[in-house]
Amino acid sequence: MLLHLPGILTPDELAHLRGALEAADWTDGRETVGAQGARAKRNEQLPEASPLRAQLGKIVLAALARNPDYFNAALPLKTSAPRFNRYAGGGEYGFHVDGAMMRSGDGYIRSDLSCTLFLCDPSEYDGGELIIHDTYGEHEVKLPAGDLILYPSSSLHRVAPVTRGARLASFLWIQSMIRDDVQRQTLFDLDLSIRQLGGGDTGNHAAILRLTGIYHNLLRRWADS
Ligand code: NI
Repeated sequence: MLLHLPGILTPDELAHLRGALEAADWTDGRETVGAQGARAKRNEQLPEASPLRAQLGKIVLAALARNPDYFNAALPLKTSAPRFNRYAGGGEYGFHVDGAMMRSGDGYIRSDLSCTLFLCDPSEYDGGELIIHDTYGEHEVKLPAGDLILYPSSSLHRVAPVTRGARLASFLWIQSMIRDDVQRQTLFDLDLSIRQLGGGDTGNHAAILRLTGIYHNLLRRWADS
């Protein structure tokens, strides 16, 4: 499932993040990947131990927490601390699959979903598309500032070289309550349908009640906790 969620950040939050990141000290993005990733990756990141990273990460997590579509689509069990990166001057990240287990605090989270939150508008830079290869082919993603894409961490993906301007983004990984992508998509489709049915005066109250029961009973059957 590839899911575009618009308007994750308010204009004030976006301006705050942009201002802080434009004044930040960046480090080589290869610090946080293994040997294979290091060959493909040419970008900059906020240092792992940076207090600014922690502070801006909280803003991103709070924005995600108030977005019901994000919750219903991702069904997050554990979320990695958000990181921030910058691509400019031809910077790119070649095709790779994200690591399966990510260090988080004292333990690990399993990456089921990867998430990129765009912080620059497409007009501000050339290139920098997130290119995701899945079973349905190749998708190019370049979203307005403040919008987010959720995609399976198991997919092969890359970031195209940025040939003009700079591309700032936040990214994180999610261990979902629902490990399987198809099951998670099924639940999200069911949830969307129930909400759409409930929106009008349909007279289908009993049917909506049954569908809601099915949603929760599938979730109960499939979820890790
Ligand atoms: Ni990646």
